[in-house]
Formats: sequence, structure tokens, C-alpha cells
Amino acid sequence: MTFLDSFATARLRAERLTTHHFDDIRSMDSDATYMALLGGPRSAAETRLYMTRNLHHWDDHGFGLWMLRDTDGRMAGRCVLRHLDVEGTDEVELGYGLHTQYWGRGLATEIATELLRLGRVVLHRPSIVAITRHDNIGSQRVLVKTGLVYERDVDHEDVPHLLYRSV
Ligand SMILES: CC(C)(COP(=O)(O)OP(=O)(O)OC[C@H]1O[C@@H](n2cnc3c(N)ncnc32)[C@H](O)[C@@H]1OP(=O)(O)O)[C@@H](O)C(=O)NCCC(=O)NCCS
Repeated sequence: MTFLDSFATARLRAERLTTHHFDDIRSMDSDATYMALLGGPRSAAETRLYMTRNLHHWDDHGFGLWMLRDTDGRMAGRCVLRHLDVEGTDEVELGYGLHTQYWGRGLATEIATELLRLGRVVLHRPSIVAITRHDNIGSQRVLVKTGLVYERDVDHEDVPHLLYRSV
């Protein structure tokens, strides 16, 4: 256990990803609406790879992907602080995703704000980045509300993305 294993905001509780979260991740990965702007639904094999990659990130770096619960303990989504290679430069990115029934309540902005704080205060990163697709207007709005600024266009896994950075 590290002190980053869990944290909370006013309306969300974040818990470190473990192998026990497979079904929770799977329910988001297989949801066509949730995955619409993330490359489409993943197969079960792709979810397993995604989990393995994110579990290794925790082992290697002591931070990574958290599952999010609402104040009643129901699974609400996930969020992440993760190393990201941006065109040869090591960055730390923040990311978030909520089950569709939680959209439109300011929750992504709430968790992104806390991730940004953790990135600065706990990980001591001079800046935190985020990438999102051109058509993910909701996510771009979250980043702006969180205080990140568009920096440039980048390719990520051969898909054009917008790169935002904290200032
Ligand atoms: C993107 C996502 C995280 C937003 O979560 P959320 O909790 O609804 O976000 P918030 O309520 O904090 O803020 C959303 C903002 O985007 C705006 N917005 C959402 N969809 C929009 C759209 N299609 N066009 C314009 N604005 C949009 C909202 O109005 C709100 O802005 P406002 O507060 O100024 O009105 C959520 O839709 C999601 O989980 N999507 C699937 C996963 C994903 O795409 N993650 C991001 C990967 S980069």
C-alpha cells in the first residue's frame, strides 16, 4: 500500500486498480457510447491487455489508474495519472472517464482538478499533459475548465490528438 492507493474528492472516491476490477473495466470497455470517442469498444482480450499495462504501471511507478466510486459506493468510472511518451519526451498525463449515467454533473472536472493537484504536489511534475481526440469536445471542455491549455497537435497510436498542458 502507498499513500496514493486511494484518495477522495467531494463526490468521488478513487481506489487503486487491482485484478479484481476486471468486470468494472470491462463494463466500460464494452459500452459503445462510453467508447465512442476512444476508438470504439474493446474486446475482452484488449481489456486484459489494457489492465496488464496499467497494473504494470502501478508496479513500476507507484501511481497509475484508479477506479472511481460515488458516495454510495457504486462504480462511477476511472481516472489515471500515467507516463506518456509524447514524440520522444516523457510526460505524465491525466485522464478520466465516467459511466454515461454520471455525465454532465461536473464530475470529470472535479477528478481532473484533483489529479492535477496530485501530479504537482505529490509527483512533483512541473507540468501535466492530457491528450484527447479532435471530436471529443466534452473532454476538451473538461481540460479547459481544469486549467489546461491547448499546446499542439500530436499523433498518439497513429491517431491525431490535441495535446493540452497545465500552466
Ligand atoms: C468526457 C467526459 C469525461 C466528460 O465527463 P463529465 O463528467 O460529463 O464532464 P463535466 O461535467 O465535468 O464537464 C463536461 C463539459 O463539457 C461540455 N460538453 C460535453 N459534451 C459536449 C459536446 N458534445 N459539445 C460541447 N460541450 C460538451 C459540458 O457542457 C460541460 O461543460 P460546461 O460545464 O461548461 O457546461 C465523459 O463524457 C466521458 O466519460 N466520456 C467517455 C470517456 C472519455 O471520452 N474520456 C476522455 C478521454 S480524453
